[in-house]
Amino acid sequence: MSSDQSPSPRLELAVGDITTEQVDAIVNAANETLLGGGGVDGAIHRAAGPDLLAHCRTLGGCPTGQAKITPGFGLAARWVIHTVGPIWHGGDQQEPELLASCYRRSLALADEVGARSVAFPAISTGVYGYPIPPATQIAVDTVRSTPTAVELVRFVCFNDETMSAYTTALAD
Ligand code: APR
Repeated sequence: MSSDQSPSPRLELAVGDITTEQVDAIVNAANETLLGGGGVDGAIHRAAGPDLLAHCRTLGGCPTGQAKITPGFGLAARWVIHTVGPIWHGGDQQEPELLASCYRRSLALADEVGARSVAFPAISTGVYGYPIPPATQIAVDTVRSTPTAVELVRFVCFNDETMSAYTTALAD
């Protein structure tokens, strides 16, 4: 761990729309094309405006478990970190490892640009069908165990089920 990395970020929970978060970077639960979609991906593209999609077109997509960073354009956040979570297939196709990688790679990109506050949605738990309790436990455990200079990580929940799952995961 280099000297400028704090032992681990402060973790917070919030309920609401991630696009309104006043943080340095928000994380998008994207797909491998990075060309937008529904859920949080759709909300972020709507809030950022068409320049985000135009920029994403130049990125050449993103493999599952990896992440790419763009400006936030019309968003309050300066950056958007687009990460591609695994589609749930029952848990025996590396889904836990790929999901953990999304959180690790997102923090690494935040560190590259000097972002000190990052908001995450519950990656893969919507359209991609990852069960919420294990997904939120992986999110919390991975953020807690990843060396990073990020000082604040906020898990933004869009429903009560996700909020209570994070509350349980944080208590572990
Ligand atoms: N703010 C915060 N969280 C949100 C928002 C929002 N505005 N909209 C949805 N969510 C929550 C969902 O309720 C879920 O808990 O984000 C979590 C992730 O759900 P999805 O957005 O469906 O993402 P994911 O399950 O990773 O599926 C990704 O869906 O939208 C498409 O293009 C995307 O193909 C990709 C796939």
